[in-house]
Amino acid sequence: MRALSSIALVLSALRGVVACPVSGNPAIDSFVESETQVSRHKLLCNIGSDGCEAAGVSPGVVIASPSKSDPDYWYTWTRDSALVFKTVIEQFASGDYDASLQKKIQEYIVSQAKLQGVDNPSGGLVDGSGLGEAKFHVDLTQFTGAWGRPQHDGPPLRAIAMSQYAKWLIDNGYPKTAQEIVWPVIRNDLYYTAHYWNNTGFDLWEEVNGASFFTSITQYRALVEGSALAARLQTTCTACDEIAPHVLCLVQNYWSNSGYVVSNIHNNAGRAGKDGNSILGSIHSFDPRLGCDATTFQPCSDKALSNHKAVTDSFRSWPINNGIPQGTAVAVGRYIEDVYYNGNPWYLLTLAAAEQLYDAIAVWKAQGSVTVTSTSLGFFKDLVPSITAGTYQNGTTTYDSVLDAVFTYADGYLNVVKTYMHTDGSMPEQFSKNDGTPMAARDLTWSYSAFLTAAAARSNARSPQFGWLASPPQLPNTCAASTADGAYVSATAVSFPASQTPGGTETITASVPEPTSTTCLHKVNFSVLRTTVWGDSVKVVGSIKELGSWNTANARPLLADAYTESNPLWRGSISVPAGASFQYKFIKVSDNGAVTWESDPNRSYSASSECGSTGNAGGNWQ
Ligand SMILES: *[C@@H]1O[C@H](CO)[C@@H](O)[C@H](O)[C@H]1NC(C)=O
Ligand SMILES: *[C@@H]1O[C@H](CO)[C@@H](O)[C@H](O)[C@H]1NC(C)=O
Ligand SMILES: *[C@@H]1O[C@H](CO)[C@@H](O)[C@H](O)[C@H]1NC(C)=O
Ligand SMILES: *[C@@H]1O[C@H](CO)[C@@H](O)[C@H](O)[C@H]1NC(C)=O
Repeated sequence: MRALSSIALVLSALRGVVACPVSGNPAIDSFVESETQVSRHKLLCNIGSDGCEAAGVSPGVVIASPSKSDPDYWYTWTRDSALVFKTVIEQFASGDYDASLQKKIQEYIVSQAKLQGVDNPSGGLVDGSGLGEAKFHVDLTQFTGAWGRPQHDGPPLRAIAMSQYAKWLIDNGYPKTAQEIVWPVIRNDLYYTAHYWNNTGFDLWEEVNGASFFTSITQYRALVEGSALAARLQTTCTACDEIAPHVLCLVQNYWSNSGYVVSNIHNNAGRAGKDGNSILGSIHSFDPRLGCDATTFQPCSDKALSNHKAVTDSFRSWPINNGIPQGTAVAVGRYIEDVYYNGNPWYLLTLAAAEQLYDAIAVWKAQGSVTVTSTSLGFFKDLVPSITAGTYQNGTTTYDSVLDAVFTYADGYLNVVKTYMHTDGSMPEQFSKNDGTPMAARDLTWSYSAFLTAAAARSNARSPQFGWLASPPQLPNTCAASTADGAYVSATAVSFPASQTPGGTETITASVPEPTSTTCLHKVNFSVLRTTVWGDSVKVVGSIKELGSWNTANARPLLADAYTESNPLWRGSISVPAGASFQYKFIKVSDNGAVTWESDPNRSYSASSECGSTGNAGGNWQ
C-alpha cells in the first residue's frame, strides 16, 4: 500500500471515506460484488428467446426494457443491443468458458445477420441504407412508425461488439469460423460506416439530426478495429483503411476551446453541448494502447478529463445534487436542457462518469505517471487543490494523491447509483432529479450493461491487465469529406459449428479477397400526397424485387416525416438497379392491415442507367 499525502488524507477524511489508497471504499466493494450478480442476471433476462423477461423475443435479440407502456421500450435497438453484447462478450472472454453465454453470442450474431437483410423505412441492404434503421420489433420485423432515422451509430457499435467475439475465436483456435461466419456480418457494418459517416443522422438520444460526437468517435473506433481484424483474418477492409483518418479528423471538430466537447454539431438543437454523449464516446473508444491520447479522447486525456468536469458540473444545479462540491460525485444525466420525463439523471450516465475515471487510473498505473496540463488543470484542482501543471511519476506523493482522489471520486459515482437504485438492485432508465426516486423504463438492459463495464473498469484500475504500447494515431493534414463504397453482401450466417470450446484447431489456409461491387444503383425518391388517419401507412409496391414484386406484404413503407394537413406528403428513397424499368402503385395500409390500392393504370418508371443517379417518382394519389 502506498503512503498517502496529507492532502489526500484531508480530502478522504472530508468525504468520510476510509483512507486506503486506490483500493476504494469497502462498502463500495461489497456493493459492486452483489450488484454484479444482479446485473448479470437481469441483463440476461432481457435477451430472447429464453430470458425471464423476454417471452416471444427471437433468439439473441435484446429488448431495451421489458416495459411495454409509458414508455414502450418493447423493441430491439441496434445500438443498445450492440453495447449490451459487447459487455456480454467481454464477460465471456474474460471469465471461465461458459457454453450458455457462447450460445447467446452466436444467436446474437445470427440474428443480426438476418436483421441486416430486413428492408425497412431507412432502406435496404442493397445500398446499405437499411443498416441505419435504429429499432425493430422483437421478432425482427421492421418498425414502420415515425422515428428519428437514420442513426449511424448502430452499425459501428455492432461491428465493434462482433469483432470482440471474432478475436476470441481467433485466439481460441477458430479463425475459420471468424472469417467465414462472423466477418461477413461485420464487414457490412464497416462498409456502411465508411459509406455514410459524413451524412447527417440522429444522435444516440434520437432527438437531433446532425452530427454527434458519440457516433463519430464510435465510427472511428470501428474502422480502426475493422482494419486490424481484417489483417488477422487474412483479408482486407480497404474502406476502413481509407476512411478512418478522415473520421478522426472530424472528431476534432467537436472540441470547444471552452474546454469541453460540443456533443452535437451541424445542429445543436439550441443546447450548450455539454452532454453525457461525450463521456460515453470516451469510454466506448477506450484503448489502453493509446495511453492518454487526446485526438481519440482517451479517458485519461486532458481533453476528456476537462470534458468530464464540464459535463458533470453542468448537473450540479439539480436539487438532488444540491450543495455537493466540485470534485465530489453527483447524479449525471444526458444534458441539462433535457425535457424527456422533465430531464433527470440516468444510471448508465452516472456509471459512465465513474468508468471514465477508472479507465484513466488504469492507464496512469500502466504508464507510471500522471500528466496535468493547462487543459486538465481544473479537473485535477477540484481533487488536489495545490496541484500545478506537470508530470508526476509514480513514487511521488502527488501521483499517489491524484490516483487516490480520482479513485475515491469514481467510487462516489457508484455510491450515487447505489443510493438511488431500487433496494433489490434493479435499475430502470432514470431517477428523479428532485428526490432520486427510480423512474421511466424499468430494468433498462443498458443500465445493467453499464454497471458491468464500470465494475470491470474498477477492477482493472486496481490491477491493469494490459501492457504499455502507446502509438497515438496520426491525423491527416487536412480533413476530407470523402467516403468509400463497399459491396454489401447478405451474410449467410445461419449457424455456428457445435461445441467451440477453447483449444480449437481450425486454420485459415487462403486469404480472402474483398467482394467487389457489381451493383450499379439508381435512387428513386418516391412521394405521394395522400390524406391519412392515425395508424395508416402509405407504401409503394411494384413489379421488381426491390418493390416487393407486387406482394403487398413486401411493399416498402414511406415516411410521414414531412406530412402536414395542407401537404399530406408520404415520401422515401429506394434504391433500384440502374437501368431498371418497372411498374408500381402506392397503397394505403390501415391499422387493421386492410389495403387500399391506387386506381389504374399502373404507374411506370425507367431508371437512368448511370450508377449513383437519382430521380423522382409519384405525385397525387390516383
Ligand atoms: C463531413 O466532413 C467534413 C470534413 O471533416 C466536416 O467538415 C463536416 O462537418 C462533416 N459532416 C458530417 C455531417 O459529418
Ligand atoms: C512505476 O511504473 C512503472 C511502469 O508501470 C513500473 O515499472 C515501476 O515499477 C513503477 N515504480 C514504482 C516506484 O512504483
Ligand atoms: C398492373 O400490374 C399488375 C401486375 O403485373 C397487372 O396484374 C395489372 O393488370 C396491371 N394493371 C393494368 C391496368 O395494366
Ligand atoms: C432525392 O432525395 C435526396 C434526399 O432527400 C436528395 O438529396 C436528392 O437530391 C433527391 N433527388 C432528386 C432527383 O430530387
